[in-house]
Amino acid sequence: MSILSGKRILLVIAGGIAAYKSLDLIRRLRERGASVHAVLTPAAQHFVTPLSVASLSGEKVHTELFSLTDEAEMGHIELSRDADLVVVAPATADLLAKLANGLADDLASTLLLATDKKVLAAPAMNLRMWLHPATRRNISRLREDGVEFTGPEEGEMACGEFGPGRMSEPLAIVAAAEKILAAGDTAIPLPPGVGVRPNAKKSALAGKRVIVTSGPTHEPIDPVRYIANRSSGKQGHAIAAAAARAGAEVILVSGPVNIPDVSGAKTVHVETAREMLDAVRAALPADIFISTAAVADWRVDHAAEDKVKKSGDAPPSLKLVENPDILATVSQLDARRPKLVVGFAAETTDLIAHAQQKLARKKCDLIVANDVSAASGVMGGAQNTVHIVEAGKVTDWPRLAKEEVAQRLVALCAERLAERKS
Ligand SMILES: Cc1cc2nc3c(=O)[nH]c(=O)nc-3n(C[C@H](O)[C@H](O)[C@H](O)COP(=O)(O)O)c2cc1C
Repeated sequence: MSILSGKRILLVIAGGIAAYKSLDLIRRLRERGASVHAVLTPAAQHFVTPLSVASLSGEKVHTELFSLTDEAEMGHIELSRDADLVVVAPATADLLAKLANGLADDLASTLLLATDKKVLAAPAMNLRMWLHPATRRNISRLREDGVEFTGPEEGEMACGEFGPGRMSEPLAIVAAAEKILAAGDTAIPLPPGVGVRPNAKKSALAGKRVIVTSGPTHEPIDPVRYIANRSSGKQGHAIAAAAARAGAEVILVSGPVNIPDVSGAKTVHVETAREMLDAVRAALPADIFISTAAVADWRVDHAAEDKVKKSGDAPPSLKLVENPDILATVSQLDARRPKLVVGFAAETTDLIAHAQQKLARKKCDLIVANDVSAASGVMGGAQNTVHIVEAGKVTDWPRLAKEEVAQRLVALCAERLAERKS
C-alpha cells in the first residue's frame, strides 16, 4: 500500500504547457488512495479546464481568491491547512517568483504563503527562463525556505529547444511526494505560543469539569533522594490551560515541575503516585479525565526515614513495588467514572501497538500515543508528535507545539463528549 493512501494532496496547477500532465498526476495520486483538491491559477485555465480537473479529482476545483461561496464553504486558509502535502505542478517561473518573494495576489500564491505544510514543486518552463539568474535566485531562496523540488528534466521542449525545463513525469512527482510523506510529518511548526487561538470555541466545555494530571511523580528513596523521570509537565499544563480556555472548570493535579501553575485552573500539587491518585479521587466527579502525568510505575518499598549512608559495604539494593495505576483505576470506576477517560502512552518502541494494548487493558476511551525516545526530543521539549488511538481507529497528528496539541485534544474531547450524550 502506498503511503499516499488516505493522504490529502492540495495540487496547485499553474499556467504552463505541462499542465496537461497534471491531469495524469491526479489519476496517479488517486490510484494510490490520495484525495486531490486542485487549485488553478487564471493562466492555468488556458491550458486545462476546471471541468477536466474536477472530473478527474472528483472534488470541487478552486480558482478564485475572492469567492464568497468558496470562502463560506472552505476558506482559503482552511484549504491550505487541510492538506498533508502541497504539490505545485507545473510550477511556473512566475509562481515560483511570487512564492520566493512572498507575493500573494491570487488564490494559488496566497495558499502557498498561508500553508503550514511542505510544498513540493515540479518546475516546468522554457530553458532560458529556468537558467535566468532571476529564476536561479528564486529557486535557491525557495530551497532555503524548505520548498522541495522534483525536476525539471532535460529534454525536448514544446518550444523546440533542448535542455532543462521539462516537468518531471507524473510518476516521478508521485515518488517525490511519497518520499516526503514517508519522511514523516510535513507540517512546518510555529514557534511555541503562536498559532493558539486563546478564545477559540470558548464555550466548547462550558459547564464541564475536567481533571488533568501533569508532570512526573517523585518516589522517595530516603528524605533526600527519589526516583523520577524526565517529564516537564509542559504538555499536561498546556492541556489544562486549553480546557480552561474552552470554558471548563479545571483541576490540574501536578507532580513536581518547574513551570508555573495554570491560570484559570485549580492546581493541586502532589509528589508521589499515591498522592496523585488520592488528589484525583478527591477531585471527582468529573466529565473528562485526562491522564497526562508520567506516573512512576514503581516506588521503593519502605523509603528510609533517614538518609541512607555509605557503609563501606555493598551499595544498598532497592526493592521496588508497583504503584497504583491511576488511569486504570479511574477508567474502571463504576458510578464515578468520568464520561471520557483519556490516557497518554509514552513509548520508545512499537508505539501504536503498545497504545492499542493500553487502550484495551486500561479500558479508557482514547490514548494519545507519543514517541518519547531520546531522539524525539519530546520529554522536556516544546513540541510533540502524537497519534490518537481510539477503538478501531488511529489518527496521526503532525508535529505540533505542545500548546497546539493541547488545543486540538481539548477540541476532540469536547466533540467526543457531545457524541456520547447524543
Ligand atoms: C503557450 C504558453 C505556454 C507557457 N508555458 C509556460 C511554462 O511552461 N512555464 C512557465 O513558467 N510559464 C509558461 N508560460 C507563461 C505563463 O503562462 C505566464 O508567466 C503566466 O503569467 C503564469 O501565471 P501563473 O504563474 O499564475 O500560472 C506560458 C505561456 C504561454 C502563452
